[in-house]
This record gives sequence, structure tokens and C-alpha cells, in this order.
Amino acid sequence: QTADSLFIINNFAEKFFTNTLFNTDEGRDIGLSYFKERGFREATIEKFRLGYAPEARTAFTDEALKNQFNKELLLKTGLIVERNGSLQDNYRGRVIFPIHNQSGKVLGFGARILKANDKAPKYINTPENEIYVKSKILYGFYFARQAMDKADECLLVEGYTDVVSLHQAGIENVVASGGTSLTLDQLRLIKKITNNLTIIYDGDSAGVKAALRGLDLALEEGLNVKLVLIPDNEDPDSYVNKVGASAFIDFVQKNKKDFILFQLELALKDIGNDPVKKSELVNKIAESISRINKAEDFTKQQDYIKQSADILHIDEAGLHALVNKYIR
Ligand code: CTP
Ligand code: MN
Ligand code: MN
Ligand code: MN
Ligand code: MN
Repeated sequence: QTADSLFIINNFAEKFFTNTLFNTDEGRDIGLSYFKERGFREATIEKFRLGYAPEARTAFTDEALKNQFNKELLLKTGLIVERNGSLQDNYRGRVIFPIHNQSGKVLGFGARILKANDKAPKYINTPENEIYVKSKILYGFYFARQAMDKADECLLVEGYTDVVSLHQAGIENVVASGGTSLTLDQLRLIKKITNNLTIIYDGDSAGVKAALRGLDLALEEGLNVKLVLIPDNEDPDSYVNKVGASAFIDFVQKNKKDFILFQLELALKDIGNDPVKKSELVNKIAESISRINKAEDFTKQQDYIKQSADILHIDEAGLHALVNKYIR
């Protein structure tokens, strides 16, 4: 009941924001110019139903109240906030990324400030409510689903703009986690379509850490996880705009690394010659490998043992025995 009402309000708001973007002077001069400067084409903007929230304090609030929407529900959507006893718009002078569920209904919004600064957050997102449950949402899933199925692969990126730019470049099997580590619910959503997950994050340490945190869960869910790191302070959005679609696809193909082996190489670099730390690492990798213990993944497990033993310069049979110890 509440959920239905929230969807209705969000749908109304999505229309308000897209209409403001295309059909008002402020929307065109500020919002549309912003998107175009980023290289988003009009067809792309329309497809993702991107919008613009005007600067005026109560532009959306006025429209919503005129349409008799309930105040408590409006507050729940996060579209409106209460300040000193009066209602006002939460997103002002921001471009809008609506977030859709599996059937294309609007769960909530990400609202980006036009010029990043340290006084205001770059993105304001919908607060948790009956329909916006961050841990269950993958941005772009609705638009990526068919392509994911066809390619039998899901590309996972960090942000809204990465999804939009890759789509525009013809790479449509892509969803975003919103910069946080993957949850079980998100992994299961992916697994409904494909078992092959390729994580494409930026190469800075926050990106790598966010990627690593999802690993064990993904392995337990039986997903084949690969990782690609985008170099030089770029992210997939800026990189595909810099090098173009085909060079981007080449880069991803050439730099796709198996997740377990990536983790291993990274850890080995930190360790140097410390025998205690090395032994800890061997145990940790054995445990990770032991998680791939389903019968159909037997050859995959053998492969990991062989390649990991190589990387670590240890005896393959010894590592095998250790892996078996962890399988319960
Ligand atoms: N994010 C957020 N709130 C923030 C910063 C980030 O919710 N204050 C989420 C958004 O989903 C964002 C993603 O984390 O898309 C990745 O963050 P970041 O890389 O900083 O943003 P970009 O998507 O690259 O956006 P832009 O290119 O516009 O800077
Ligand atoms: Mn980053
Ligand atoms: Mn970016
Ligand atoms: Mn980014
Ligand atoms: Mn298991």
C-alpha cells in the first residue's frame, strides 16, 4: 500500500524532472548543457530518463502539493524535506538520475550537484524507505538485463555515470553498485541472469578495497569473478569517453584478471620475505579456494590450486591438502 503510493509519487517526480530538463530555460541552460558537456547524447538522456531539479526552494513541493499527494509519503520519498516547519525540495539545482526496479518502476533518485565542492555532498540519494533498500538495488539493472543475458556476463561498475556512458558506447551489460561493496541480495539478482561477473572499478585504493570486499560472498554464490582496474585516476565513464568504445573493450579483455589470483598477487607484494605472513596468506588463499567446492566447479578449483601454487612458489600437492582441510 505505502509502496504503491511511493512508486506513484516517484513516477510523478521523474516526469517533473525530465520535463524540467527539456522544457524549461533553466533546465536546458544548466542541466542539459551539463549532460552534453559530459558527452551524453539526447537519446541516452531520454533512455535513462535523466532529469533536472531547479534551484527554486519549492518548485517540486508546490507541484506535489497541488496534486494532493500526502505529506508523510512525500517526506518518505526524500523528494521533500521539512526545514523550520516548512516543506521544501530536497534536490535543488542538481541533475537527476532515477533508479529503476526490475520492471522499470522508479525506486528513488540520485541527485548530482553541478560543480563538486566540499560544502555539499556530490550526490544526494533517496533515504531508505519501503521501496528504496540500497542493499538490494543495482543501478541500471532494468536497462542491462537483456544484454547481460545475451553476453552471459555482467559488468559491475561503481557509479551512475559509468553505467550511462558505457551504454552509450554500446556496452549494455553493465550495472552499478553505487560505490559500496556488493551485498548478497545484489549478487543473487545478478545470478538470476548470469554466473559471470566482471568488476570494473577505478584503480585507486578505495576502488580496489570496495572490489575485494565482495569476493568471498561472490565465490560462495558460485559466481566466476573477474576484475579489471581502470588506470590513471580514470573511471569507466571518463576512460570510455577518452579512448572510445572499441579501445575500452580491448582494454577490458586484455586486463581481465581472475579475482582470487588478483588478490593473491596484491597480497604477495605487501608481504615480501616475511615467512609468518606468507604462511598466513597461504592459509587465506586455501580457504578462499575451498569455497569453490561445488562438484561442477571441481576443475576450476584444481586450476586455482595450480596457479596459486605457482604464484606463491609452493608445492601444489601441499596446497591441495590444505584446501581439502578447509572443505567441510
Ligand atoms: N556516491 C554517492 N554519494 C556520494 C559519492 C558517490 O552515492 N557522495 C555513489 C554514486 O552512486 C556514484 C558512485 O558512488 O555514482 C561512485 O562515486 P564517484 O566515482 O565519486 O562518482 P561518479 O559516478 O564518478 O560521478 P561523477 O563522474 O559525476 O563525478
Ligand atoms: Mn574511486
Ligand atoms: Mn566519474
Ligand atoms: Mn567514479
Ligand atoms: Mn561453500
